[in-house]
Amino acid sequence: MNKVTLAVVGAGEFGTRYLNALRSVAGVHIGCICDRDRAKAEGAAASLPGVRVATDIQQVCDDPSIDAVIVVTPEHLHRVVAEPALRAGKHVIVEKPLATTPEDAEAMMRAAKETNRLLMTAFLLRFDYRYAQLKERIEEVGKVRNVYAYRNFDRSLFALYSRTHSFIENAIHDIDLVLWYVGSKVKRVHGFCRNTQGRENPDVNWGVLEFENDAIAVIHTSWLYPPQRHDVLQWNTGVQVMGDRGVLEVRSDSDGFRANTESFGQVVLDQTGWATIHGEPRGAFGAMLRHFIQCLRGEAHYRGTTPEEAMESMRVAVALAENAATKPE
Ligand SMILES: NC(=O)c1ccc[n+]([C@@H]2O[C@H](COP(=O)([O-])OP(=O)(O)OC[C@H]3O[C@@H](n4cnc5c(N)ncnc54)[C@H](O)[C@@H]3O)[C@@H](O)[C@H]2O)c1
Repeated sequence: MNKVTLAVVGAGEFGTRYLNALRSVAGVHIGCICDRDRAKAEGAAASLPGVRVATDIQQVCDDPSIDAVIVVTPEHLHRVVAEPALRAGKHVIVEKPLATTPEDAEAMMRAAKETNRLLMTAFLLRFDYRYAQLKERIEEVGKVRNVYAYRNFDRSLFALYSRTHSFIENAIHDIDLVLWYVGSKVKRVHGFCRNTQGRENPDVNWGVLEFENDAIAVIHTSWLYPPQRHDVLQWNTGVQVMGDRGVLEVRSDSDGFRANTESFGQVVLDQTGWATIHGEPRGAFGAMLRHFIQCLRGEAHYRGTTPEEAMESMRVAVALAENAATKPE
């Protein structure tokens, strides 16, 4: 079968990561890089000879050679790219969150339904073998009673990601996992936030979710981790699921690949998210991309987060942010 031709829209931090990974994913041709900032699109295309450069999603929509679009624009600008792309008959991967408002998410879902295109929200942790195995073994712990999920990142990254509330931008990964694991509807949310860095949104965020089946989850996301070299980023992330008959746990900063060298000191390196082995993206990110391509080629049945699940995670995240805003700091 012919290669799947992709356009990457948004050549920023994460768009660049997609482009690097996609170079070595089998069955993929990168056809176009689009950024409203032409210099960024041209910069990203410089090392990819023959790739077209665009500055407007309409140019991508009008190009019949593009099969699918990867939306890597800022969180509140997903719909402006994804909806026209879907309407033009392209399949779409949209970075998380699906959108930042229910109205945008609904418009994207409607476009995907009406055109029968795949709309995948890039919840890569569902393709991390540890989180996926936790889901596969969840019945062993019996009824799930409580879940604790945490995601604490480097202060310096907050300069960029404070543009969106962290429940919606960052904790959304954990909200997706927690809803997947608990398998019940959220009946009440309680958000507690502190803004210690004086940016647009709070950097310390604790959320409590009460589920209809009586399970309770705590979601914790802060940006107080000390600044690190990004090539050796140590992820302070994990999840603990407790049920009547046991505990299942994933911890990223203690179970990775350990190195202790003169140049870096002691580091525990992530091997499951972005690991590149023999030049290929072998972590969850690569697995997610390969799965998307296999689905488009009719070689796999879709098993990522559905648009309805992505919508629910977003609703919970928005509710947490709104609830936190009702409480004085
Ligand atoms: N999965 C993860 O772990 C993870 C990590 C970081 C970021 N992300 C997500 O990736 C997305 C992009 O984040 P980023 O860090 O790359 O942001 P960024 O600000 O570095 O890049 C966004 C790019 O989009 C471009 N852009 C904006 N509007 C556009 C439009 N209408 N058409 C074309 N280009 C447009 C901007 O010029 C910019 O170059 C966000 O949704 C973010 O939450 C995911």
